[in-house]
Amino acid sequence: MSIASSPATRSKADIEADILRLVEEHYAVVHQPKPFVPGKTKVSYAGRVYDANEMKHGVESVLQYWLTAGPFARKFEETMKQYFSSHAAFLVNSGSSANLLMIATLCSPQVKDHLKPGDEVLTPAVTFPTTLTPIVQHGLVPVFVDCKPGEYDVDVSQLEAAIGPRTRCIFVPHTVGIPCDMDAIMDVAKRHDLWLLEDGCDALGATWDGKLVGTFGSMSSISFYPAHHMTMGEGGMVVVNDNGIRRTCLSIRDWGRDCWCEPGVNNTCGMRFEWQLGQLPYGYDHKYIYSNLGYNLKVSEMQAALGVAQFEKLPQFIEARRRNAAFYLDRFKPLEEHIVLPRWAAKAEPSWFGFPITLKSHIDRRDFIQWLEEMNIETRLVFGGNILKQPGFMHLPRRIHGDLAGTDTIMNQTLFIGVYPGLTQEMLEFTAERIEQFFRERI
Ligand SMILES: Cc1ncc(COP(=O)(O)O)c(C=O)c1O
Repeated sequence: MSIASSPATRSKADIEADILRLVEEHYAVVHQPKPFVPGKTKVSYAGRVYDANEMKHGVESVLQYWLTAGPFARKFEETMKQYFSSHAAFLVNSGSSANLLMIATLCSPQVKDHLKPGDEVLTPAVTFPTTLTPIVQHGLVPVFVDCKPGEYDVDVSQLEAAIGPRTRCIFVPHTVGIPCDMDAIMDVAKRHDLWLLEDGCDALGATWDGKLVGTFGSMSSISFYPAHHMTMGEGGMVVVNDNGIRRTCLSIRDWGRDCWCEPGVNNTCGMRFEWQLGQLPYGYDHKYIYSNLGYNLKVSEMQAALGVAQFEKLPQFIEARRRNAAFYLDRFKPLEEHIVLPRWAAKAEPSWFGFPITLKSHIDRRDFIQWLEEMNIETRLVFGGNILKQPGFMHLPRRIHGDLAGTDTIMNQTLFIGVYPGLTQEMLEFTAERIEQFFRERI
């Protein structure tokens, strides 16, 4: 309930129009890009790209003061569901939460053939920590498979041989936006009756054989952190492609409850006080019946409002990332005696998170990174590198398939530079020239 204040003299529509006009004015004054000064201006590896529209959406959501997921959240979930032609798209507060929710869903006793402690999950050793963490937290055993420098995804030629008697699931990220070989993965998953989960956090808009990645597995995750293809600040999504697990996934996101009413809504099921579940008395309020061990992973309405505005720009964002990656690919071709350029299958169309470069063994990566960072050109490593070498991950219960030689090369010799839509042609040229200069002068 709102607190009473002095009576209004102007209409809601007039006030809102004024506020939104001022937001536009504020944007034009405060958020204009500054001129690029080579060596001084940071060439970021990623960042938010937005205009007054995002701010107006954010302000509108505050004026409506819904706070918890409301009309913007419903609109955004519906939009994403259609984008992926999926059974559902559930907003969560991060890509990490999306991964957690997917694993928790597959472990729910509500799900037919659900995963049980001790079951194995095939996953690449080059990974993001929170792709792996929920596997371990649920008592499942990760089986680490190698990755190839240049491709960065799981080495599908080793996948089948990594399967053991307790292997029940494959969980693969489409690392830095390069789609995994989905023909090979689907083939192994089908023949061995394995669950398949995709971490699509780096790869929104990437396709395999014309079909969006994130639509192959039972579920897939997306991240809306600012480094990703579009952002809500913090945010993520689970795309559900298997209708049999949709309700369980929603339940676990929303405290584990059995009820599926939207916030602020009652009796969607039409029998709120008529359920008999567990050992509860007949008619126990359905709103307070819990059929899963759950979390609260929901987003706020403000976050969803930004998502709605950003989605309108997604096609141009993906296009810009592809254009920028194509620029670097073309420009760095003559450097192949020193570097491994990214490569991908003919059926794959990447949607780049960053532009990965693996330096050949005669190049010292620290020197190379230093050379770029001195000129304010940001670099990043491919997440955890060999995740098993990370202090928090060295002693996990796990199985390792093969020697992880490619993984170690990626840990030691790979980095990526940005391709995000906020980079100007001047920034791309400056970065390319600085890299060329390194090989001319330092090698
Ligand atoms: C492949 C991958 N999975 C998961 C995540 C986690 O997403 P978030 O930062 O939204 O939790 C990231 C983040 O960059 C990622 O790259």
